[in-house]
Amino acid sequence: MLPGMLIFSPLVVQSVSEVTPILLLLLLLFLFITWSQAHRSHIPGPSFLAGLGPILSYTRFIWTGIGTACNYYNNKYGSIVRVWINGEETLILSRSSAVYHVLRSAHYTSRFGSKKGLECIGMEGRGIIFNSDIPLWKKVRVYFSKALTGPGLQRTVGICVSATTKHLDSLQDMTDSSGHVDALNLLRAIVVDISNRLFLRVPLNEEELLMKIHNYFETWQTVLIKPDIFFKMGWLYNKHKRAAQELQDVMENLLAIKRKIINETEKLDDDLDFATELIFAQNHGELPADNVRQCVLEMVIAAPDTLSISLFFMLMLLKQNPEVELRIVEEMSTMLRGKAAENIDFERLKVMESFINESLRFHPVVDFTMRKALEDDDIEGTKIKKGTNIILNIGLMHKTEFFPKPKEFSLTNFDNTVPNRFFQPFGCGPRSCVGKHIAMVMMKAILITLLSRYTVCPRQGCTLNSIRQTNNLSQQPVENEHSLTMRFIPRTTQPHSQF
Ligand code: HEM
Ligand SMILES: *[C@@H]1O[C@H](CO)[C@@H](O)[C@H](O)[C@H]1NC(C)=O
Ligand SMILES: *[C@@H]1O[C@H](CO)[C@@H](O)[C@H](O)[C@H]1NC(C)=O
Ligand SMILES: *[C@@H]1O[C@H](CO)[C@@H](O)[C@H](O)[C@H]1NC(C)=O
Repeated sequence: MLPGMLIFSPLVVQSVSEVTPILLLLLLLFLFITWSQAHRSHIPGPSFLAGLGPILSYTRFIWTGIGTACNYYNNKYGSIVRVWINGEETLILSRSSAVYHVLRSAHYTSRFGSKKGLECIGMEGRGIIFNSDIPLWKKVRVYFSKALTGPGLQRTVGICVSATTKHLDSLQDMTDSSGHVDALNLLRAIVVDISNRLFLRVPLNEEELLMKIHNYFETWQTVLIKPDIFFKMGWLYNKHKRAAQELQDVMENLLAIKRKIINETEKLDDDLDFATELIFAQNHGELPADNVRQCVLEMVIAAPDTLSISLFFMLMLLKQNPEVELRIVEEMSTMLRGKAAENIDFERLKVMESFINESLRFHPVVDFTMRKALEDDDIEGTKIKKGTNIILNIGLMHKTEFFPKPKEFSLTNFDNTVPNRFFQPFGCGPRSCVGKHIAMVMMKAILITLLSRYTVCPRQGCTLNSIRQTNNLSQQPVENEHSLTMRFIPRTTQPHSQF
């Protein structure tokens, strides 16, 4: 007979009346322990502790942010850890072989998150990023792939160069009285302009849109794994709900303008932009209007939420590693000799590419990704039950395996070819970053244009380590007054007469 069952046998119950309170307590403890053991799996992680374990681990996720909590658990229990989020079993993986298995498998193409939270931001069963309606996700992913790969990539360079140039030309307007520029906001403005020119092509108020994108992101990271009760607490929830709604309303208006433009255009280009393709899909009954709106919204926020922050980190890293800046400028001048930036062979920018890679490794914006197991599976002997939440901690993976100087910023980390499974800043496989190729092109084009005109100088004593950062949904600098401002100093020796 199992020890736990003894407690419930009539014989024990009969004698309970005579048992002292102390004994009763001991019995309860006994019950707790046996119950805990029944729930203990073979995967390392905090113990169940009669239900206290799940509460504690969930609290850590809510309190410190998902990214921070993942690093805590992987550092404490190893590269495969079992925790709980909102009562659901969740595995955090930072071992490259396990991460690679999940990335490439078709069994993990779903994500997890609070249903009410995702409904609040319009992502539940819509759009691409957190859409877990798999047939629908597959359908919309085709539209994203088409817009982000292939012939469109060529047009991208020209648009990146001209948008960056335009914003640099009016740098005066963004400079404060002490000669400093809010670098992150400048990069956001450049990037949102590029996204609009590539995917939407509607005249818009950049500043207003950026503010709403920022607030939408705040809501996203606030609601993503909150318990259902949060959504009943109006005094906490309403302002987030409003922020999410505001961006959706802006998108609705921009799409209305777009529809009008399409209607008034006699003959459309041969290569239709992303928004036009989606509007046609809606007209043909392929996609409902709310899904079209969400897809365009996600396409517009994707780069400002990731790429602009990556570029900001890169500018900081460049100043902290002057010898790297020197090498990049040298390579750039050679490549730009007699050529406009648009005509450079980007494949040959090796120093620049190593620098971008090393920056994404050493100080990533996106350092984890959330998935869900759609089938039972086995990862290197660890049984995975269908429905288990999975978090891939790629940020930690990049700092614990393969690289010769894992904890340092050094281009030598990319001197030798890095096998795929050890370096996955965008993920790979069916649910990878659909913008991974265009993102590399965009970063190169923006950096070339910016660095051939200016060298930047963050505030005295301001380094990546000294600025405050949070890691809830992604790694972000905390924006307060002056910490993110930089001086933009024109380069005296210009690499090319064109600049
Ligand atoms: C430095 C820039 C960027 C980084 C580091 C980055 C990284 C990532 C990562 C790690 C994922 C999750 C992949 C996974 O679950 O395996 C992701 C997803 C995604 N990214 Fe990016 N990304 C960047 C830029 C972009 C850009 C510029 C776009 C589009 C214009 C984009 C669009 C997307 C979309 C739509 C998804 C969701 C894909 C899906 O769920 O099917 N990303 N990104
Ligand atoms: C296009 O515009 C015309 C005239 O303004 C209008 O009658 C028509 O319904 C519009 N078509 C679409 C598809 O919006
Ligand atoms: C940079 O990383 C990508 C993978 O994201 C890889 O294909 C490429 O070869 C790397 N470039 C360099 C110069 O190491
Ligand atoms: C993000 O995480 C930090 C802790 O690092 C926390 O103070 C902050 O409130 C969180 N923000 C959101 C919106 O969840």
